[in-house]
Amino acid sequence: MTDNLLLRAARGQAVPHPPVWFMRQAGRSLPEYRAVRAGIGMLESCRRPDLVCEITLQPVRRHNVDAAILFSDIVVPLQAAGVDLDIVAGTGPVVASPVATMADVDSLPTLDPQAVGFVAESIRLLLAELGETALIGFAGAPFTLASYLVEGGPSRHHVKTKALMYGAPDVWHALCARLADITLTFLQVQADAGVHAVQLFDSWAGALSEADYRRFVLPHSRRVLDGIAGIPKIHFGVGTGELLPAMAEAGADVVGVDWRTPLDVAAARVPGKVLQGNLDPCVLFAPWEVVEQEALRVIAEGRKAPGHIFNLGHGVMPETDPDVLTRLVSLIHAS
Ligand code: CP3
Repeated sequence: MTDNLLLRAARGQAVPHPPVWFMRQAGRSLPEYRAVRAGIGMLESCRRPDLVCEITLQPVRRHNVDAAILFSDIVVPLQAAGVDLDIVAGTGPVVASPVATMADVDSLPTLDPQAVGFVAESIRLLLAELGETALIGFAGAPFTLASYLVEGGPSRHHVKTKALMYGAPDVWHALCARLADITLTFLQVQADAGVHAVQLFDSWAGALSEADYRRFVLPHSRRVLDGIAGIPKIHFGVGTGELLPAMAEAGADVVGVDWRTPLDVAAARVPGKVLQGNLDPCVLFAPWEVVEQEALRVIAEGRKAPGHIFNLGHGVMPETDPDVLTRLVSLIHAS
């Protein structure tokens, strides 16, 4: 496993071609996913190791990607800790009692590692099946989790989140400290169970200026990343071109980049860091010639970094033709 392409690239070691996997590679783009999920809620399926194992393996079997990502969700540890929430199809996470005050923060539960024992069990099943394919564990970073808890659900402008951050910084920092504890426990459970790498998703951090990111977010994300040792750590957000140096400082080995920032530009912004990304997920809806041209551009630009893990700039969209993803993996492997 130490020779796995993804792990080599993440360490900045020489690889014959970039390793490739896709964020949201398991999910609604696959008919076999829609079939096994029929009639079973998202969070319920995350709690069933047999289903987690099957769904995680589906894109590996189909696309021959170099890594599997554990099938779960960023809100799974919150629910396991006791936060009343659900994932509503077509909407996303919805929280019953949004967080607004210090009393709300004080009443948040902590995460007992045993409450996510189903994740450790899923990882054990997966490691027995995966062979030479790397398994990536993940969690949501404090800012992105806080956004769901404060807004009560998905949000376009994160108005309540920012109002809390600016208006009650003590409540904000207390909330993020709690979330960092939960996230770190969740990642530690996955690392102890044997995942080969972890990705910390701060998907919505791009809503912040660099100064606010440094003041309100970076210390909490750093505490999470510093708490995990011995395996490569990937840190990703959307719209984070201006935040890349600060996100790199949070302690990741690999910095994920969305499609807005070319990888050669990103490489200059975070010297010495391995990059992951960054084909626009919408390009997959264009004719194959365009997909090919854009993917080869991403690979060429990625050569400016000490290592490059090919991925999309954000998750696979549900309407994506899975055959295009399979063909893309072959193209990357032949590059
Ligand atoms: O990448 C993978 O293949 C692993 C699985 C994974 C899921 N969620 C499964 C999922 C991962 C890594 C996540 C992380 C996640 N969840 C993030 C960070 C990554 C990102 O996309 O930026 C965020 C912000 C969430 C919160 C969340 N959960 C959203 C916004 C949604 C989509 C809502 C919808 O229906 O469009 C979910 C639900 C979710 N998580 C689905 C999947 C496969 C869809 C559930 C379904 O099949 O109905």
